[in-house]
Amino acid sequence: MDKLIIQGGASLSGEIKISGSKNSGLPILAATILANGSMKLSNLPHLNDITTMLALLRCMGVDVTIDEKMCVEINPNSITHYDAPYELVKTMRASILVLGPLLARFGEANVSFPGGCAIGSRPVDIHLRGLEAMGAEIEVDGGYIRARAPNGLRGAHFFMETVTVGGTENLLMAAVLAKGKTILENAAREPEVVDLAECLVAMGAKIQGIGTDHLVIEGVDELQGCSYRIMPDRIETGTYLTAAAATRGSVMLRHTRADILEVVLLKLEEAGAKIESGEDWISLTMNGERPKAVSLKTAPYPAFPTDMQAQFMAMNTVASGSATVTETIFENRLIQVNELNRMGANISLEGNTALIKGVERLKGAPVMATDLRASASLVIAAMVADGETIVDRIYHIDRGYECIEEKLQILGANIRRVPG
Ligand code: EPZ
Repeated sequence: MDKLIIQGGASLSGEIKISGSKNSGLPILAATILANGSMKLSNLPHLNDITTMLALLRCMGVDVTIDEKMCVEINPNSITHYDAPYELVKTMRASILVLGPLLARFGEANVSFPGGCAIGSRPVDIHLRGLEAMGAEIEVDGGYIRARAPNGLRGAHFFMETVTVGGTENLLMAAVLAKGKTILENAAREPEVVDLAECLVAMGAKIQGIGTDHLVIEGVDELQGCSYRIMPDRIETGTYLTAAAATRGSVMLRHTRADILEVVLLKLEEAGAKIESGEDWISLTMNGERPKAVSLKTAPYPAFPTDMQAQFMAMNTVASGSATVTETIFENRLIQVNELNRMGANISLEGNTALIKGVERLKGAPVMATDLRASASLVIAAMVADGETIVDRIYHIDRGYECIEEKLQILGANIRRVPG
């Protein structure tokens, strides 16, 4: 397994380009199944999870072509079967997002039941209950979700008990071809859900309430293919900004937007960062100052995103003062605490809250990545540690950060990848 070798001490400075959003690209790739013609998607990030979703579409018989700029052309009309096999789903839970589109368009789907992962059990009960409310017949057999809608799906008024990004996306994609009106209550409002909805509207879907927790969808008979550009990755953006804050640096991020991560920017300003932004860029400088400790509590958008929690924890380990970080979305998303403490951090846990007392510097150590965003926090910690850190199992990182070591090298970090 590849490793990252990092020598701490550099303050990040310089300019990089942000990639397209993984968590918008994945549902939009699934939504291509709904089109009765060719879809052209641009700004997809070159990431393992995107590659896995493309492999899943191909294994169903969908015609996928990719050009050298990662522009993808997809024509689902060549689809031959409606199965998402265990071999692919076990590597990427987001494969569940093909369930709604397959049912909506073809009335049939067999999707391997996605297991949990390091951060939690990750159930899909709300996805399934919503599809049943739309008339799907669903059984779980031999580790597979076997779903049928022989007479097509019908509109339903459905309340989601928990705000779920994937559940909202699956039910939204099911509803756009259902007969009649669907109302989704307590829907997720994340920018990635908005990006999916806007892509569906560009395909001819009728959706009201985009960006709110109350979505009203009028089903249509068919959706057209279209060209669509994936939004910037707000979590990649937040990760590099937080790394710059932790290392007392100054960075300029291009091909991104400030309006999709406002609370993260406010929290970075609370840490002492000076932030400016324009239509497609964000700059941050610490003016060489040590960050101030910042407390936070994760919650659904527009609150502080759970996908930025571990990165802020890493910054807090070397900030001045103490802070609390509370994780409310996933039951096991504080797992980076142990590895950070092995690097000399001073973090104690009380339930789903971590109390972090800032120290001047961490100490490099061999550490192990456990999930995507915890891995990013270890890379940030390694850059503010004395000496060398070896981050193992970085396949987690490659799922969500395009060319992470190249981008950090451009910003002055002393980092290299060692094939494992
Ligand atoms: C999406 O996961 C993201 N992944 C996650 O990003 C992100 O952390 C998460 O949303 C929350 O923002 C993608 O978009 C591919 P949820 P998802 O359904 O959709 C519970 C990353 O690092 N729940 O919003 O799987 C669930 O247990 C990844 O890029 C149910 O109870 O998350 C959790 O507690 C990690 N029943 C809460 O809802 C359900 O049927 C939120 O999960 C569905 C979810």
